[in-house]
Amino acid sequence: MVTTTAPVPVRSPLPWSLAGRTAVILGGTSGIGLAAAELLASVGARVLLVGRDKDRLEAALTRVNAAATRMNAAAIPAGPPAGPPAGPPAGPPAGTKPSGTSAGTLAQTPAGTFAGPAAGTSAGTPAGTSAGTLADAAGTAADAVGTSAGAAGTAADGGVGADGMYADVHGISADVTDDDALAEVFDWAGTVDHVLMTAGRPAGIGPVAELSRNTAQAAVAGPVGAVLEVVRAAVPRLNPGGSITLASGILVARPRPGMSAPVAAAGAVETLARALAVELAPARLRVNAVRFGAIDTPLLRSRFEAAGAEADAAMAEAGAGMPLGRFGTAEEAASAALFLMANPYMSGEVLTVDGGQSLA
Ligand SMILES: NC(=O)c1ccc[n+]([C@@H]2O[C@H](COP(=O)([O-])OP(=O)(O)OC[C@H]3O[C@@H](n4cnc5c(N)ncnc54)[C@H](OP(=O)(O)O)[C@@H]3O)[C@@H](O)[C@H]2O)c1
Repeated sequence: MVTTTAPVPVRSPLPWSLAGRTAVILGGTSGIGLAAAELLASVGARVLLVGRDKDRLEAALTRVNAAATRMNAAAIPAGPPAGPPAGPPAGPPAGTKPSGTSAGTLAQTPAGTFAGPAAGTSAGTPAGTSAGTLADAAGTAADAVGTSAGAAGTAADGGVGADGMYADVHGISADVTDDDALAEVFDWAGTVDHVLMTAGRPAGIGPVAELSRNTAQAAVAGPVGAVLEVVRAAVPRLNPGGSITLASGILVARPRPGMSAPVAAAGAVETLARALAVELAPARLRVNAVRFGAIDTPLLRSRFEAAGAEADAAMAEAGAGMPLGRFGTAEEAASAALFLMANPYMSGEVLTVDGGQSLA
């Protein structure tokens, strides 16, 4: 149980205050989590992406790294490169940072750097990718893929990335339902400021009476259990002022037949966010949830048996029935999560981002 009362951190509530902060995104390789990672990188945060599929992870890292590179380039002032800001150059303890990162040493920031893999684990073993490092499984639960768009130097005054904070992007392939893998993720991350949990998809779709006992129970217990395990793994790592953001959906407010089990799971996640907000407040940790409407992501697109331009057309046609004439974008959905991370006075909130879908 958290009993200590930490000092109250007060920061700017604007997204720029996430510069130099460390965010772990469970489910960061697709859809809303990936969009959140790009937005975080674009404001100079350190981002650790987590997903199961390694190819998807690599592709996501390429995208997020591009956002980080753009941000870091914008943060470097014209003229000869300046040295790092006051204080010694940073870096994790010797031997723990994945070698071969692409763009030089990161300057030390108040938020620190990723801890990197523990000695003797496979995570962080160089495998010669151009973007950074790739660890191969060999029996461990989580595999790290690292890219770094960081650049030594000082940031432009008052701009994005002020105070020498540079975006830094890494990825780990891990299954959030595997406790050992989760522990490795957070060991690798070290001290963390924000956790976004978007991993998962609705399960147990169909009339409850027609679901098997196992399917019905797993559909509810699975997602809630995964969130609980993420919270258990994250809390000891979170800095005061840090946050956990969970994912829910508007079916909680407007249930549909055949969705009872996943809606029960989503409702429980919202309740958990509120309960945890109370429980973790003495440690100055905040917990919120975002209730997403129908958002154009690979998850929503998987409902349509179409690909490429056909899928775009199917999405446009289906989205035309929404109040704003379209589905939401992953970026629009993700920006709600960034708001909850950045605003130090947001806790216990379930924020709906649905373009009015729950009113229609
Ligand atoms: N899109 C919507 O319209 C909508 C609406 C309401 C609620 N939501 C909720 O919002 C969340 C994000 O949705 P999305 O549309 O962004 O989904 P998405 O595009 O399918 O992305 C899901 C992400 O989670 C990862 N993931 C799934 N299971 C995982 C596991 N066991 N361990 C680790 N990573 C896992 C996926 O990568 P891997 O598969 O490679 O692991 C992927 O990166 C979900 O919880 C979803 O139910 C979405």
